[in-house]
Amino acid sequence: MSSIANLRSVEGAGATLDPRRLRRDFPVFEHNPGLVFLDTAASAQKPRAVIDGVAEFYRRDYANVHRGVYRLSARSTELYEEAREKVRRFINAADQREIVFTRGTTEAINLVANSWGPAFLGKDDEIIVTELEHHSNIVPWQMLRDRVGAKLVVAPIDATGGLDMAVFERLLSPRTKLVAVTHVANATGAMPPVASIVRLAHEKGAKVLVDGAQAAPRMPIDVQALGCDFYAFSGHKTYGPSGIGALYGRRELLEAMPPWQGGGDMILTVTFEKTVYNELPHKFEAGTPDISGAIGLGLAIDYLQGLGLDRIEEHEAALTGYGIDALAALPGVRVVGAGQRRLGVLSFEVEGIHPHDLATVLDQHKVAVRAGHHCAQPLMEKLGLAATTRASLGLYNDERDIDALAAAIRAAQEMFVR
Ligand code: ALA
Repeated sequence: MSSIANLRSVEGAGATLDPRRLRRDFPVFEHNPGLVFLDTAASAQKPRAVIDGVAEFYRRDYANVHRGVYRLSARSTELYEEAREKVRRFINAADQREIVFTRGTTEAINLVANSWGPAFLGKDDEIIVTELEHHSNIVPWQMLRDRVGAKLVVAPIDATGGLDMAVFERLLSPRTKLVAVTHVANATGAMPPVASIVRLAHEKGAKVLVDGAQAAPRMPIDVQALGCDFYAFSGHKTYGPSGIGALYGRRELLEAMPPWQGGGDMILTVTFEKTVYNELPHKFEAGTPDISGAIGLGLAIDYLQGLGLDRIEEHEAALTGYGIDALAALPGVRVVGAGQRRLGVLSFEVEGIHPHDLATVLDQHKVAVRAGHHCAQPLMEKLGLAATTRASLGLYNDERDIDALAAAIRAAQEMFVR
């Protein structure tokens, strides 16, 4: 076994997480003293186990995969496929062949839209998306709609900012062929009841794709328990490298889907007349993949599982509650609603201060947040907002980070509002 498998950092199971101690696993905090990082929803910081493990892989084990008969290539292939198995376990898929490495959530969704879409959707078939989605889970379906003449149906949020399930149920019909829904909304943290959505959609014969970009780093994922047909997530939001992610698809669906990109590795034989495609999951991985990215993602998964996803969820849920209370207690601050359940994301407005100005002042206090439309312009429009300021949590955040955010907001109010 390669030495990179040993580069794991675990905190020990049982107790609640100790974010201050965990910060020592993340070199970025050593290099940026005083950093209050509240932008994990955009991209998570990387633990040493991932950074060093990827470097170690390049130093010791690197070669192309699935191609060489020499030992170095075999070792690299073994590590790459081991990473696939780690992803399988991470989301509890039944079979490794159901895990396709992609560039991230966006590419995973585009894969389904470009492969499953034209093969199984036709004119007047309906795709339901929700108002909670970010652009990655809207635009590929619009493109598919325009390609095959299908209809895009939008399930609205209610006054609290959660998905309106009564309307969602009414929108479902035998014409519905796909429901594409987020597990945790990136702009507000809202958590639609995905298991119920899957059940209702399946009753109508529709397939369900779950966008897990924000959920995968924050809670245990079990695609078999959810019953979804497709699940997408990104490495870079899951404390792994950027440029890697995964698509889960139920095996019979992936088997029936045509490849969407052609090239090396996705073939068994090629003549000028005809190509025989490779088996799953390689049929969907044309060209040399992001080998080190997949291995880095596997190391990130080791790290998260070493801590326990249930403990991470518990920690983030508690800190989300603390954050809502802390922000709501500030005069002139309004936290954007997210319905009954929210995780890890706090979007808010501060009266009299534009989110971009606010984020700039917060940065002067070493508080890193995102300001803008959060790649979710339709949701912002529905909420009647051009932009919000968004603080998003990670396993290295604690109450002191929220207190620092609140103090920096007060300082901004001193500057702008008085
Ligand atoms: N989708 C990422 C975010 O929410 C980039 O910030």
